[in-house]
Amino acid sequence: MIWVVGFIILLFGFVVFRGAPYVPSRRKYIERAFTELYPLSKKDVLVDVGSGDGIVLRIAAEHGAKAIGLELNPALVGISRWLSRGNANVEVRLVDFWLKPIPDDTTIVYGFMVTRDIEKIEKKMQQETNRLGRPVRFMTYGSELIEHTPDAELVGYHLYTFNPLQSDEA
Ligand SMILES: C[S@@+](CC[C@H](N)C(=O)[O-])C[C@H]1O[C@@H](n2cnc3c(N)ncnc32)[C@H](O)[C@@H]1O
Repeated sequence: MIWVVGFIILLFGFVVFRGAPYVPSRRKYIERAFTELYPLSKKDVLVDVGSGDGIVLRIAAEHGAKAIGLELNPALVGISRWLSRGNANVEVRLVDFWLKPIPDDTTIVYGFMVTRDIEKIEKKMQQETNRLGRPVRFMTYGSELIEHTPDAELVGYHLYTFNPLQSDEA
């Protein structure tokens, strides 16, 4: 039994070296953000960088969007796949999001991250936007970006637009 508990602690503990620990966003706030801050629709492909139990993905799918979660903790990948079973618009990938490009059809990225990672995600979002060659929206819960001014804000949420830069600006 002690081994099982130790293994679970290890799974949830090791991610803090790569990003935020697991703390789920609250359903009522996600609902407001996807309605009032950025009305999600079936035209959207939302990517949650660190998707936890998949709550954000399931709510995005309720709004008609395709939702892709990138999650490092295998236990949370299993739990979120099980909770989202049968939902064709939800996909959860077991990956370290720092090491993978965002999917090419991404329209909006959702990040509930620690302040330590903000500069790094800002750089990654800009690189990915340059690669895609079109604007990509980014919604943060909690921490604000440093170099970008939000387009809009709502109870803890900040919404940004990343635009592709020419290579000499990037
Ligand atoms: C604060 S929780 C947010 C969960 C979910 N996005 C939500 O809002 O409910 C952060 C999540 O990111 C995951 N995570 C941390 N670093 C990661 C990384 N480098 N790649 C993928 N997932 C990561 C953690 O395991 C955790 O589930």
